Amino acid sequence: MDKTIPKSDKDYSIYFQPPSLKEAKKRGKEDVSVHYEAGIADDMKTIGVGKRYLIRTYGCQMNEHDTEVMKGMLEDMGYEPTEDKLDADIILLNTCAIRENAEDKVFGELGHLKTLKQERPGLILGVCGCMSQEESVVNRIMQKHAFVDIIFGTHNIHRLPALLKEAYYGKEMVVEVWSKEGDIIENLPKKREGMKAWVNIMYGCDKFCTYCIVPYTRGKERSRRPEDVLAEIRDLARKGFQEITLLGQNVNAYGKDFTDLTYTFGDLMDDVRKIDIPRIRFTTSHPRDFDDRLIEVLAKKGNLVEHIHLPVQSGSTEVLKRMSRKYSREHYLQLVAKIKQAIPDVMLTTDIIVGFPGETDEQFEETLSLVREVRYDSAFTFIYSPRDGTPAAGMEDNVPEDVKKERLKRLNDLMTVIARERNELLRGEIVEVLVEGESKTNPDVLSGRTRTNKLVHFYGSKELSGRFVHVKVTEPQTWLLKGELVQAQPARVV
Ligand code: SAH
Ligand code: SF4
Ligand code: F3S
Repeated sequence: MDKTIPKSDKDYSIYFQPPSLKEAKKRGKEDVSVHYEAGIADDMKTIGVGKRYLIRTYGCQMNEHDTEVMKGMLEDMGYEPTEDKLDADIILLNTCAIRENAEDKVFGELGHLKTLKQERPGLILGVCGCMSQEESVVNRIMQKHAFVDIIFGTHNIHRLPALLKEAYYGKEMVVEVWSKEGDIIENLPKKREGMKAWVNIMYGCDKFCTYCIVPYTRGKERSRRPEDVLAEIRDLARKGFQEITLLGQNVNAYGKDFTDLTYTFGDLMDDVRKIDIPRIRFTTSHPRDFDDRLIEVLAKKGNLVEHIHLPVQSGSTEVLKRMSRKYSREHYLQLVAKIKQAIPDVMLTTDIIVGFPGETDEQFEETLSLVREVRYDSAFTFIYSPRDGTPAAGMEDNVPEDVKKERLKRLNDLMTVIARERNELLRGEIVEVLVEGESKTNPDVLSGRTRTNKLVHFYGSKELSGRFVHVKVTEPQTWLLKGELVQAQPARVV
């Protein structure tokens, strides 16, 4: 539904679909259409000349990549980037709704921007990203932050030029949040920087984990056509990118929505493997859909790196059931065993939520024991945060706050020990490093990443930036490997 709502009209509720599991589960598979954009309209091509933009990005890689698309469109309209908000003619907040603290940050920033907007009424302020898909957030912005000029949703990014036009020429707040969620927009400009690139292979999520807002903010699961994905990656290879991360909330569900062809994530990886890009990563994979075909393809290695981010969320089958993750502890551990057997030097990382409603001490202990068994190299750990409208928000949240914090601390302490031990195994090994540039703290020290995405610091000349080198690990630390550059020596790649 397309709508532009005048500031004075107070009833916005009819324009939104608040999170509703029942409604969202009715999603059809047949109405995905792919649109190929023709580029910026002629009347908008120079509208930004002499003006500057700033985009603040919150949340996951999906949002980071959406920001690249918006930068691409803004620069095609003549805008130039700035990092200084005092210097910006447009400021966009690309928001995240995953946990309450993510939302709090955005409202805090809006508070700061109010003064700026009062001083410079010509400044255009926009809010986009996942929070804009939530009706309660949009209402709150309308009521308490009425100085915002544009609100647009995750399905409306390609409409940015048109929305800007409305904001410039109209006097009212421009709100456009489509609840239609079946489309894929191709050919949007993207501003990529550096040597690494993100490529969306699919959008949305149909998993409906009971705690998670993403299926509502990002819409239904829909895969880009393989030919479009492969053409984009080939183009990035031609442009000299060294590393590509394939993006999706649930990448291994890729292709399941195609009605006219059988082509899975394993098939896609097998085709991407043949493209001349040194490193290919992907995020995020869901344990439920991790099939044997995918393991078999990943084991072929080459440019497919030995790192798998495999969120487990909990080590307790009972909690997993209430999270609706659709796998058990045993299934997850079997999968890990299978992966380790096929790829012995694999590095596994994960996401874990503590303090899910009803999580008992014993169930939390099961998470710790699973972490000890899998021995992850790192983990993103979170305290459960209720999200309005999700099924878990209606469950009794009987774990006291201090218990949640204590569990998080115990989990993080354990992860620190394991990460340190995992890195210690690399002492004396030679690793292949993609050099990203000078380290943040010392210009003489270069910083880069291994195939398994571990951070490496070593002394070397700046000219090595963007190149692959071999580094001997001399001082493994918990979250960093310190090493020495190895000259012209064949490496055992780790
Ligand atoms: N699609 C990915 C995850 C995307 S969100 C997957 O399924 O693995 C990233 C992580 O945020 C999740 O893995 C989960 O650990 C965490 N998360 C999501 N919703 C949350 C909530 N309501 N409270 C706390 N953590 C949450
Ligand atoms: Fe959220 Fe689950 Fe979908 Fe991941 S798979 S985005 S955690 S609903
Ligand atoms: Fe956040 Fe949306 Fe990503 S809620 S984690 S930005 S998909």
